[in-house]
Amino acid sequence: MNKKTAELLNAQVNKELYSAYLYLGISKFFSRQNLPGFASWYKVQAEEEQEHAMKIYDYLLDEGEDVELSEIAAVKFIPKDALEAVKEADRHEHYITAEIEKIMDAAVKAKDYRTQLFLNWFITEQAEEEKNSGDMCAKVEILGNSAKDLWHLDRELSSRK
Ligand code: FEO
Repeated sequence: MNKKTAELLNAQVNKELYSAYLYLGISKFFSRQNLPGFASWYKVQAEEEQEHAMKIYDYLLDEGEDVELSEIAAVKFIPKDALEAVKEADRHEHYITAEIEKIMDAAVKAKDYRTQLFLNWFITEQAEEEKNSGDMCAKVEILGNSAKDLWHLDRELSSRK
């Protein structure tokens, strides 16, 4: 594999694990706000992010590349309210989309067709991730910020497995 593409994929393993960590932080925030449905939704999201990291990890190893297990950054983000929490998740998903697109650009430039095929799954996934995070922002914006405003939505969100 082209060196730049391998480096970007390596870095993305770390970024997906950081995403899991960020969502765990958001889940914790909602737990402490007495919104267990939101907390559970973001905990499931954190698990999904670990799966994304493992997909890339396995791909690199299958392709005969090494995987550098570098330090995962601390989560510094402390939401002041529910809207700030869901907006940060949305902002983060747009950032991740841009990072995936950078890897795709490198794979295209290197004529690495296999990695392009592998990344197609992530391109599709990011469309879904952005849709979900955008919808969540819209709902919280409409309903309001307090646990009382979000009570019904909280119950609905607890069904995500
Ligand atoms: Fe792994 Fe939410 O992107």
